[in-house]
Amino acid sequence: MDDVGTAVPNLSALAGNLSPVLGRYFERSWSHGAGHRLYDTAGRGYLDFANGIAVTVLGHAHPRVSAAIHAQVDRLIGPTGAIGYSEPVVRLARMVADTLPAPIDTVFFVNSGSEAIESAIKLARRVTGRPAIIAFEGGFHGRTLGAASVTTSSGNYRMGYEPLLPSVYFTPFPRVYADFGGDETEATRVCLQHLRRLTSATVPAASVAAILIEPVQGEGGYHPAPAPFLRALRDFCDEHAILLVADEVQSGYARTGSMWALEQARVVPDAVCMAKAMANGLPLAALATRRELQERWGKGAHGSTYGGNPVACAAGIAVLETIRDEGLVENTAARGEELSRSLRSIAAEDERIGDVRGPGLMVGVEMVADARTRKPDGALAQAVMARAADLGLLVLTCGAEHQVIRWLPPLDVSASEIAEGVELFGEALRAV
Ligand SMILES: Cc1ncc(COP(=O)(O)O)c(C=O)c1O
Repeated sequence: MDDVGTAVPNLSALAGNLSPVLGRYFERSWSHGAGHRLYDTAGRGYLDFANGIAVTVLGHAHPRVSAAIHAQVDRLIGPTGAIGYSEPVVRLARMVADTLPAPIDTVFFVNSGSEAIESAIKLARRVTGRPAIIAFEGGFHGRTLGAASVTTSSGNYRMGYEPLLPSVYFTPFPRVYADFGGDETEATRVCLQHLRRLTSATVPAASVAAILIEPVQGEGGYHPAPAPFLRALRDFCDEHAILLVADEVQSGYARTGSMWALEQARVVPDAVCMAKAMANGLPLAALATRRELQERWGKGAHGSTYGGNPVACAAGIAVLETIRDEGLVENTAARGEELSRSLRSIAAEDERIGDVRGPGLMVGVEMVADARTRKPDGALAQAVMARAADLGLLVLTCGAEHQVIRWLPPLDVSASEIAEGVELFGEALRAV
């Protein structure tokens, strides 16, 4: 236990003016962060493998990011982009474009993942002149009305908000473990068949503006889409002049062992939505496409007062420079291998773990009540998460029944921290 506490009391007792609508993983009160540790108000340090849900991906108080923020705060906080250009915004757009596959070269900055999705939906409809959007069952794309309209990871995100956006259609996501007994080929075949059926019987492909997919379904349970499925989706979109929109809000930015998850399938989408990791905790998100699409979108067709704030962009530059200079794409791949291997060896001895899956440092551990039927056990996963936190490790859950324990270690995590996290996880498992 680290003795770095402050005199801050238990904040939950003082939180009566905060809305009760926000769900929380923990009723703990946080004081500060340093490196890969988050400290509670009693001064206890936790190994933070949650990163505020994939946001503080370089850990807390990162010297390079903090220095960039301080310098920019003193220089220029924020004329909105509509007033003109400022240096960090222009530079970051160039740097983000450089991480993306050609011909994607044009970035529209916003503040959150949901806004990036809203932007993609608006662009797709305006540019194609088509109304329909196809999204995947179990997907999560955000909480604003447009983003909630394409979200089905939980009924609670939609209930009571109808009518949501019209002309949104859903098709099954290839959840290889949960629905296809681990058979990727069958998952790919069946899900493509569903998509073709949808576009022949329900909505003509010629009316579809965009297909929106998370290459690794996140909130829905950490399901990686098989590469052949993603490639077939690209072909399908090409055949019907549909825009393929990748939601890389959670899977992007080196998380999966490549800068973008779709790279691993060798698929170039038409649009990429990104957020979370971009500024290591400051609000920053973006939609990126090839220039021609945003030219056709039209001047003034979309806008944002805060999107591309210079301070957030200065932090964003420091994040990308750190990823580049410290070889963090390679680190995520290597540490991810170690994490998955260690978790698989725990799973081999514990039949309550049905599956360990996910690329790089986006790893899900599915807890099951019965290994044969693969019946999810959300209560168990939540008990393990709570116990792990008691022991000083922060991991989260996801999945419709919160049955998947998700691991999101920082991108610059070390091998010894991975070993420490796995050790604490093993201890938590033994205790529940
Ligand atoms: C894949 C994905 N898309 C979109 C969002 C929405 O992002 P935000 O909460 O920043 O609006 C999230 C958030 O978890 C996400 O995981």
